[in-house]
Amino acid sequence: MSPQISSVNQTDSPQPSIAIVGAGAIGQLLFHQLASAGQAPLLIGRQQASTDNRPTLLQFTDLKGVPSTRTAQVIIPNSDEAQADLKHITLLIVCVKAYQVIETLKPLLPRLNRECQLLLLHNGMGPHLALAPYLNGRTLCLGTTSQGALKQQRWQVRQTGAGLTQLELFSGPKLTQTTKTHLLNAIPNSQWCSDIIPMLWQKLAVNIAINPLTAIYQCRNGALAAPQYRHTILGLLDEVILVAQAEQVPLAREPLITRVFDVIHLTANNFSSMYQDIAHRRPTEIDAITGYLIQRAATHGIPTPHNQAIYQQLTTLEQRSN
Ligand code: PAF
Repeated sequence: MSPQISSVNQTDSPQPSIAIVGAGAIGQLLFHQLASAGQAPLLIGRQQASTDNRPTLLQFTDLKGVPSTRTAQVIIPNSDEAQADLKHITLLIVCVKAYQVIETLKPLLPRLNRECQLLLLHNGMGPHLALAPYLNGRTLCLGTTSQGALKQQRWQVRQTGAGLTQLELFSGPKLTQTTKTHLLNAIPNSQWCSDIIPMLWQKLAVNIAINPLTAIYQCRNGALAAPQYRHTILGLLDEVILVAQAEQVPLAREPLITRVFDVIHLTANNFSSMYQDIAHRRPTEIDAITGYLIQRAATHGIPTPHNQAIYQQLTTLEQRSN
């Protein structure tokens, strides 16, 4: 079945009431895109990062360098004032890092309406499985985006790339057509897919090939096009292909290699998110990227020496930088 592309018009229910938790670069980019489409989502702050329930001015620079500002309502989930707002949310877009998904959602889910639907958008895989016991039949959608954004200050982001965004229902009741339409119209170059898992594996492969290497060799994505990295990248990808196949997700080798090198060229000037996490002494998403592959490989008895070596190097670097 071919994916459903942006700009659909059918409506069958009231406009969704959307909130975003995780106002990092991608969370704020989506805030601006949804607000431009006519409905600014609520932002849910995480307590340690925010102190107040108040309107906040968000600055945005688009791909052409055009600046704009918008006011967002930022709420702190465990404050009394937030309770009514939280009950009103019909779709929560979760843009926190993979390792923060469970710790963010576990206390938040009981405060949300039973019908509130969830959409996870993060690098890596794994939280969608760990989240299952907490969902209580709620809708869980998964997505992956290749849009690029850079957080310049706490409430200031710049869009750096206009990649594809792919979304799909993973479990629970379907999203209403109105909600789908709203998302697809607001997010440029977005698609509703018929099977998101292969898309997530392809993005996982891109992240496995690029993120740890840029952090270990302290380089921009584009540097990985140099011949000395090719052998390592192909070794990492061959292991991804074997594990994905064991997971019933066939990934064709040549198109996958082409995709990875396309991303390296298209994002040549970017510092990957893992490079930035190491540079800013933050925890990385290595466990949801290389770690997820190694863990799935172990359940199938598949050796992953290339990925294990990279995992070892990256976690040593992470420990040293923290
Ligand atoms: O994590 C990242 O930085 C991005 O997913 C990607 C695609 C590697 C581009 O920098």
